[in-house]
Amino acid sequence: MEKLRIRRPDDWHVHLRRGEVLRAVLPYTTQQFARALVMPNTDPPILTADDVQRYRREIAAPPGFLPLMTVKLTAQTTPTSISHAFEHGAIAAKLYPVGVTTNAEDGVVDEHDLYPVFAAMEQIGMVLCIHGERPNTYCLDRETAYLDVVSWLARTFPRLKIVLEHITCRDTVAFIQNASESVAATITVHHLVLTLDDVVGDRLRPHHFCNPMPKSPADRSALIHAATSGSPKFFLGTDSAPHTREQKEYAAGAAGIFTAPVAMPLLATIFEEEGRLQWLAPFTSEFGADFYGLPKNEGQLELVREPWTVPETLAGIVPFKAGELLSWRVDT
Ligand code: DOR
Ligand code: ZN
Repeated sequence: MEKLRIRRPDDWHVHLRRGEVLRAVLPYTTQQFARALVMPNTDPPILTADDVQRYRREIAAPPGFLPLMTVKLTAQTTPTSISHAFEHGAIAAKLYPVGVTTNAEDGVVDEHDLYPVFAAMEQIGMVLCIHGERPNTYCLDRETAYLDVVSWLARTFPRLKIVLEHITCRDTVAFIQNASESVAATITVHHLVLTLDDVVGDRLRPHHFCNPMPKSPADRSALIHAATSGSPKFFLGTDSAPHTREQKEYAAGAAGIFTAPVAMPLLATIFEEEGRLQWLAPFTSEFGADFYGLPKNEGQLELVREPWTVPETLAGIVPFKAGELLSWRVDT
């Protein structure tokens, strides 16, 4: 097979940033995806209906691309502010436990404090997206340690739609498989490719450093199995997270991998290697839309089997797989 034509995909988790970086990275998302759920941990953050409207205007999406907006939950979020944000187009709210990642210093300390906010979200049909890691916990145990909180949320708010973002381990895959229909998960491309060895196994590779940390080969296998299984509970969220070269190659380097430029080509390779190409389009273009209750995209994306070398930098940012040869490319 030399060409792959699939329904235009959605990215259910992307960091577009603001200002100059936003302008530089946006085309890599819009060239492949018809829609993307845009994360609110920008500087300054997206917290209110006004912020949502301002950020949407700043993104100034080209025709054929729809940014799906989110707001960040903080101690200041109220049922009124969250409903107002929803009315102004924020389809989801993002829960960052305090300090777990980039710009999460104003994250949530105790989820129970947000009980009325979650109740309001459940009522109006707003999706809760969760960075599921427990603060102040050994880094490889953070995700598993947070599943208690997700259980509590799912039990307490049975109609609240919950997406556990960028999952990384076997425990979480099993948790999602056993959870109710209102709980799903996104999987990134880089967590299907990397293990901890690719971050610190020989040399320190700052461009592979991200949150949550990539884990063991068995964890990665569980993720590949989940993504290619055809289960509608797992869908694509790239978590493409650009940081400048200076921010990454630094004594206290930033977490995040700029994967947008290579996302669809790498997925084609992974699904093909698994002999599961028939589940690529559902994973990238159907299951997420169904979960969010949105129509599926109309257009198509074409991938061509044609080797290309990923540039060393794109607009000052080092992309995932920089300098490496990929076997599929997006026909733009
Ligand atoms: O590696 C990450 N980078 N993980 C996150 O959760 C946030 C992201 C970022 O914003 O840089
Ligand atoms: Zn993210």
